Amino acid sequence: MKVLVTGGAGYIGSTVAQQLLDAGHTVTVFDNLSSGHRAAVPPGAAFVRGETLDRAALDEVLVDAGFDAILHFAAFIEAGESMREPGRFFRNNVTGSLQLIDAAVAHGVGRFVFSSTAGVYASKDSPLLETDPVGPASVYGATKYMVEQALEWYQRIHGLRVAVLRYFNAAGAAGTRGEAHRPETHLVPLVLQVALGKRREIAIFGDDYPTPDGTCVRDYIHIEDLATAHVLALGGLAEQPFMRFNLGNGAGYSVREVIESARRVTGHPIPAVVHPRRAGDPAILIASSDRIQAELGWHPQHPELDRIIESAWRWHLAHPDGYGDGKQ
Ligand SMILES: NC(=O)c1ccc[n+]([C@@H]2O[C@H](COP(=O)([O-])OP(=O)(O)OC[C@H]3O[C@@H](n4cnc5c(N)ncnc54)[C@H](O)[C@@H]3O)[C@@H](O)[C@H]2O)c1
Repeated sequence: MKVLVTGGAGYIGSTVAQQLLDAGHTVTVFDNLSSGHRAAVPPGAAFVRGETLDRAALDEVLVDAGFDAILHFAAFIEAGESMREPGRFFRNNVTGSLQLIDAAVAHGVGRFVFSSTAGVYASKDSPLLETDPVGPASVYGATKYMVEQALEWYQRIHGLRVAVLRYFNAAGAAGTRGEAHRPETHLVPLVLQVALGKRREIAIFGDDYPTPDGTCVRDYIHIEDLATAHVLALGGLAEQPFMRFNLGNGAGYSVREVIESARRVTGHPIPAVVHPRRAGDPAILIASSDRIQAELGWHPQHPELDRIIESAWRWHLAHPDGYGDGKQ
């Protein structure tokens, strides 16, 4: 298939782009490089520097190009920031997505795979099912759910075939691609920055949550397993016009457990300091991925936390300056 990958210079999009190429698809990456890295785009993919809010730029890429599918990763991703600057998030994540979806329909693109998040759910202390109630704790989660809802209508009205993938916490590295966000807010790379001597300590935001050790519990999914699910979902759209899947390991780890794992993997003491809770952080988010396992035969190949952190650690040791473009 011929596919357009928005946000394909980012952490997840670039890894998926590589797996799509490996599976024999033709890939064009569309990214404004606001947080992505040109060097992360796989050499086998075409690259267009463009902005989803710019409909003319989208038309230029899509017109007469015969794309079969769009995988849409481009978004702002930081929940805490979304609580300080909601307008930026609604514009980029909702308006930008609507521009893209309209352009997809106008240019006859038949399939659309959307990066959603566990952050659409209301927190609950057992694995979340796709049928569980939605209740985003942040503007970021709300923006993703708004796009999900729009996609349901475009499916019904225009026949666009849609896969919504609700990721839990993506982590780890895949070969030459790893996690380098700026600012970095994700726990695994932050903890590893302490081990690399780039940070003095790791901050724990809240240790009074209703969880076994008081710190937030999350479900970590290896980036390669996450990427594989996209390739399967793209194919699955031949059979099903609308799919919605959780993507996680089904096991939760607390912030303290992640820090312990990183201490084991790196051999560094990684000092930790407790700070007050952050707005928009639910206590527990763990996925049930039974649905995608049953319907598409997806199975995580790298579920163990120490292995996930080991892969990230190897990447950070080999790439101490990230992609070398100052964005890490
Ligand atoms: N990282 C996670 O754990 C996680 C969890 C749940 C959902 N997600 C979702 O997965 C997707 C990818 O996340 P990521 O961690 O790879 O983030 P990332 O920041 O590494 O990648 C996002 C990419 O989108 C590009 N981008 C942003 N806005 C754009 C725009 N308006 N036009 C064109 N390009 C734009 C950025 O330059 C970047 O390359 C996002 O939609 C995010 O919400 C991520």
